[in-house]
Amino acid sequence: MGDLQGIKKRLPALAELGVDAVWYSPFFKSPQHDAGYDVSDYRDIDPLFGTLEDFDELVSESHSLGLKVIVDLVPNHSSSEHEWFKLALKSEPGSPERNRYIFRDGKGDSGELPPNNWQSVFGGPAWTRITEPDGTKGQWYLHLFDTSQPDWNWENPEIIEEYDSVLRFWLDRGADGFRIDVAHSMKKDLDFPDLDSTNSNAEGGAMTDASIVHPFWNREGVHEINRRWRAVLDEYEDRAMCAEAWVMPLSRMANWVRPDEYHQTFNFAYLETPWDASKLKAVVNDSLKAFSDVGAPSTWVLSNHDVIRHTSRFGVSQNPPQGQGIGPEHEQPDEELGLRRGRAASTFMLGLPGGAYIYQGEELGLPEHTTLDHKYRQDPTYFRTNGEKVGRDGCRVPIPWEHDKKSFGFGDTDTPWIPQPEGFAEYARDVQEGVEGSTLELYKKLLRLRKEYKLGSGELHWLEPLCSESSIAFENNGVLVISNMGEPINLPGGEILASTQQGLEPGGQLNTDQSAWIRL
Ligand code: GLC
Repeated sequence: MGDLQGIKKRLPALAELGVDAVWYSPFFKSPQHDAGYDVSDYRDIDPLFGTLEDFDELVSESHSLGLKVIVDLVPNHSSSEHEWFKLALKSEPGSPERNRYIFRDGKGDSGELPPNNWQSVFGGPAWTRITEPDGTKGQWYLHLFDTSQPDWNWENPEIIEEYDSVLRFWLDRGADGFRIDVAHSMKKDLDFPDLDSTNSNAEGGAMTDASIVHPFWNREGVHEINRRWRAVLDEYEDRAMCAEAWVMPLSRMANWVRPDEYHQTFNFAYLETPWDASKLKAVVNDSLKAFSDVGAPSTWVLSNHDVIRHTSRFGVSQNPPQGQGIGPEHEQPDEELGLRRGRAASTFMLGLPGGAYIYQGEELGLPEHTTLDHKYRQDPTYFRTNGEKVGRDGCRVPIPWEHDKKSFGFGDTDTPWIPQPEGFAEYARDVQEGVEGSTLELYKKLLRLRKEYKLGSGELHWLEPLCSESSIAFENNGVLVISNMGEPINLPGGEILASTQQGLEPGGQLNTDQSAWIRL
C-alpha cells in the first residue's frame, strides 16, 4: 500500500520534480473498502500507513523542502466502522445517534422497499436495510457510494461542528490545506424525491448538470458549508482548499471559488476534453471566463485516481465513461500514440495560467494498467456493478521508481496492493532520470520554466494565425505555447524552451501530436 515513511523518502524526488504541494489521498483510519475514502477515525492515521508522528515528520520534512501538504478530507460519508455509525446501529430509530446519519423507514407493507430509487455512484441502490438491535429487519440508511460509506446528516449541527474541529485538527498539525472529497454532495433534498427525468441527468455518476435542481448534487445549501470552512481556514495563515465538485457547466462550477468559498476547484470540464484543437480552445476560453468572473484562477488537470490515465485515454478510439475503466476485454489503448498525445497535452496544460494538478506517475508518462486480472480488483465499482464496470484500479497501480527492485521500488515485497504490469519497468523513474527527451525530464523542465516565467500567474493571449482546426497556440508571459494535432506545421523563429519533439530547431516543423514552448 505504501506508507508515510516511504513517501518521506521520496520527498526529495518530488521537490526535484518541481511541484509546490503534494495532495495525499486519505490516510486516516479506515477499513479500506474504498481506498481510504471510508474513514473510521478522522483524527488518526491508519496503522497501514503509519502514525500521527509520521505525519508530523512528513510535514516538517516537506516544509523544509519547500513542499506544501494537502490533506484529503471526506465530508459526505464516514466508514460504517466509524464509532458513530456503530452507535447509530445500536440505537433506536429517531435517536440522536441515528440522526447523525440518514436513516429512513422503507416503503412497502413492512418497509421492505428502499425509501426511494436513488442509485449509488458505484452501482446498485443507494440505501441499505439494517437489522435493528432487537433482531428485526428495520430502517434503511443512505450511502451515495458503497454500503460501507454511510452519508452524514449535514442538517445536524453536531456534524457541522465535528468537521470544523477535524479541519482545525489537521491545520493545527501543520497541514497547508485540503482537497475536499465530493464537495457538492452534502446537502440532500429532505423530501427524498425519486430521481426522474426532471431532477436527474443522463450522465449519472457524480457529475451534475446545474440546469436541473438535483436532489443530492450541487444543492444551494452546500455553499454555506463552503463559507464556513473558508472562515476556519482564514483563521490560519496561508492555507488553501480545493474542491472536488463534479458540477457543470463551468459558470456554475465557478460558484465554488467565489471570494469567500474555495480557493480552487478541479476543472473536470478540462479533464474530459479530448485531444482536439477546437474543443481545447473552447474549454480554455470557457474556463478563463468562468473563473475570472468570480476573481479566481482556473485550474487544469488531466488525470487523477478516479479516471483513466490520460496517456491511455488518448490512445483509444472511444473514451469510456468515468468509472468504467479499461479491462482486458476492452479495446486496448495504442500505447505509443497515447504517450505521444499525453506528453503533448501535458506540455500544453503546463503552459496555461492558473493552478495545474499532476497525478502521481504522469510525470513518467505511465499508462493505465488495462490488463489487470479481475481477481486483483479492489474498486467497489467493480463489485457493485458485477464486473460490468471494471472501475478505477488501473490508474492506481503503484508507480515504478527503480526498474530492477522489488515492486519497482514501491515497497520491499514482490506483492504491491495492485500488481504492476511488467511493462512498467521501462517507465521507471531511474530509467528516465537524466535522459534527454524522457517524460520525466520533460516535466521537470516544464515545471522549472513554469516557475521561471511565472506562467501560473500570467495571462493567456491566443495567437490566432497559429490556431486552426488542428493546431492551437497562445502566448503567456512571453512564452509561446503551441500544440499540433494535424499535419506538420511551420514554427516561428525563437528559442525553443521545451518541446516534446526531439531535435526540434527554431523555425522548424512541429509534427503531429507534438507541443513546444518558444521564447518570443
Ligand atoms: C471521490 C473520490 C473517490 C471516492 C469517492 C467517494 O470521488 O475521489 O476516489 O471513491 O469520492 O468518497
